[in-house]
Amino acid sequence: MTQDKPPTCAARDFIVRPFQPSDTPNIHALLVECLVSAPDSVRNAALGRSFISFARYTACGLGLLLLPRWDLDQFHLPVGGVAICLISMALFLVERRSITATFLSECKTAQNTDLADIAAFYKVSLGDPSERNRPQILGPSGFWVAALESKGETSQVVGCLGLDCHRRADELRGELRRMFVSRHYRRHGIGFRLLSEVISHARGFTTLPMTMELETSELQLAAQSLYKKHGFSVVGTRVIPMGRLSPLSMFRFCRTLQTVDTAPNGWSN
Ligand SMILES: CC(C)(COP(=O)(O)OP(=O)(O)OC[C@H]1O[C@@H](n2cnc3c(N)ncnc32)[C@H](O)[C@@H]1OP(=O)(O)O)[C@@H](O)C(=O)NCCC(=O)NCCS
Repeated sequence: MTQDKPPTCAARDFIVRPFQPSDTPNIHALLVECLVSAPDSVRNAALGRSFISFARYTACGLGLLLLPRWDLDQFHLPVGGVAICLISMALFLVERRSITATFLSECKTAQNTDLADIAAFYKVSLGDPSERNRPQILGPSGFWVAALESKGETSQVVGCLGLDCHRRADELRGELRRMFVSRHYRRHGIGFRLLSEVISHARGFTTLPMTMELETSELQLAAQSLYKKHGFSVVGTRVIPMGRLSPLSMFRFCRTLQTVDTAPNGWSN
């Protein structure tokens, strides 16, 4: 399980390895943590930025300004102030619920689709446990986890990344999905390492030109920076609804596999 206490983790403390079935609950927990439950989750970023949040503060401020103007001849001013405050709070609560529902539904969809049977979706061969065969990634697609090692055994999954590849005409296209690092283990090079391992794995599997793609939102600034650092660039944007009133811009990142990787400060590829 992902931990709640602050870690003492260095780049050498974790390994990146193929997914194994016992990782599934940890991966589901990472998904919920990163999208919904953590203080810096994407949902909380969305709530802080949403249009309605701005409207609430403005309307509340206006309402509060009117409240002290109590005057028997002009009693409608404070009454109006209270009404504005209440309406803005109600709107905010409705929008908050609807944004939360959007992200919970995203988690549920993930847990019921590719993350329901990770080995099958990402084509990880689980091997024969009775012969102590470890799971292996046999094709360009796959699912990897970053795990902290304790006493020689990998135990705690703190990050993950999937690659879903399809051949299209005379090229291989890979979609990177489910890049998550537990908030307690960020800025230790785990995201960069996961991405590096997946890219070098994919390189070894094809002589075809390969394009890697992924989608992330305007709210995921760390992810955008990580992908740019890894040679990805934005090739498209689309706007999707988030909650009832707030639009969300989604960026499509893309890179081909010919470029050379550069590791960020102090980490090797
Ligand atoms: C995006 C994410 C996977 C990065 O993982 P990480 O292990 O912390 O990343 P790394 O330590 O390997 O950092 C590599 C690079 O990413 C960028 N980066 C990481 N965290 C960042 C932050 N908080 N702010 C700005 N850039 C950041 C930097 O460019 C960094 O290189 P640098 O340290 O030389 O500046 C992690 O923040 C995360 O899980 N976020 C929430 C889920 C999410 O948005 N997933 C992406 C789905 S598309």
